[in-house]
Amino acid sequence: MATEQAVLDALRGLKDPDSQKDIVTLGLVRDLSVRGSEVSLTLAFSGQPPATKVMLHSMASKLVGQLPGVAKVNVKMGGAGAPAAHGHGHAPGQAPAAPQPKAADLIPEVRHTIAVSSGKGGVGKSTVAVNLALALSRTGAAVGIIDADVYGPDLPLMLGTRGRPGMFDNRIIPVDAHGIKVMSIGLLVGDKEPLVWRGPMIHSFIQQMLRDVLWGALEYLVFDMPPGTGDAQLSLSQVIPLSGVVMVTTPQDVALLDVRKAIGMFQRLNVPMLGIVENMSYFIAPDTGNRYHIFGEGGGQRVADEYGVPLLAQLPLDPETRKGGDEGAPITVRRPQSAQAQAFRDLGARVIERLEAVASLRPLPTIS
Ligand SMILES: Nc1ncnc2c1ncn2[C@@H]1O[C@H](COP(=O)(O)OP(=O)(O)OP(=O)(O)O)[C@@H](O)[C@H]1O
Ligand SMILES: [Mg+2]
Repeated sequence: MATEQAVLDALRGLKDPDSQKDIVTLGLVRDLSVRGSEVSLTLAFSGQPPATKVMLHSMASKLVGQLPGVAKVNVKMGGAGAPAAHGHGHAPGQAPAAPQPKAADLIPEVRHTIAVSSGKGGVGKSTVAVNLALALSRTGAAVGIIDADVYGPDLPLMLGTRGRPGMFDNRIIPVDAHGIKVMSIGLLVGDKEPLVWRGPMIHSFIQQMLRDVLWGALEYLVFDMPPGTGDAQLSLSQVIPLSGVVMVTTPQDVALLDVRKAIGMFQRLNVPMLGIVENMSYFIAPDTGNRYHIFGEGGGQRVADEYGVPLLAQLPLDPETRKGGDEGAPITVRRPQSAQAQAFRDLGARVIERLEAVASLRPLPTIS
């Protein structure tokens, strides 16, 4: 079994890049505990830039995880002076009830939080998330978007963001793109750095994206999720009470199989389902005007009926939409007059309606 001393010795190998002092000497390591093969600790960060925090967190987990006798490492991110590692008021021995909604602490000025998710990868989540966020902002609302796809952050490229986020008062200032506020891990780390995550780290990262980012007052905050039903989905719905989820799928059966799993997971987490978006529904040949259902027909509607939720949109396969994503000027910005841009604005309108409908069904925590 590893000793506390052995853990501290390992962590002394990790230097803060700015001060060049090791993180133990800097007093960053708090609440260290070794229980059997499980080690947990908090890194009490002070003014470190976000990329440094992420890097130190990842390195600390790795170093401790490599020690003989250690099977599990839980590194939390805290702030200096804040007892971040302690619970949220559970009496000792009392089992924690359902995850406590803490949105009021994390993002008090955000009214609606919308996750854009899917069962399968590559079905167009990021495309839908980006164009939905832009469509919502065209109603005059203040909108933000978070790249919660920690494995493959695509938003900087899709939105054509430039530069790194600034800092103010120890918080990260989101980058502006086409009038919406954007935050992505891709803005903090270099292109070539591989992103290796463990469950607890995703959790603290998502918390950090909310707590440490200066979102200000927003009507809508959209989350571009990684595909599937993994740690990010779980963490996000535990960290904040999501107003709802938009589920993106393509019409073919394999995608539908996965989307059912994903819907099931959000239902278990009590996250309201706003509806289904069927992407790449059909293709209209530019020369003949004929409609081709390349991935099959009616799949989105079937799933929507099965779960009693609306089919919010059917979006065609459209070369301009792909180009927009590749070039950092999404279709809603690039060709606002196109049918596809109009389809995204209609989607925005339906999402707004659904947010009201599900909110009236389920009392959301009041934000004081
Ligand atoms: N309706 C569409 N018409 C044409 N191309 C599309 C459409 N929707 C998405 N695409 C393109 O398909 C590719 C995958 O889309 P996108 O990155 O949005 O999917 P994703 O579900 O976010 O993928 P990942 O799971 O990798 O994050 C992109 O190149 C995108 O431009
Ligand atoms: Mg994506």
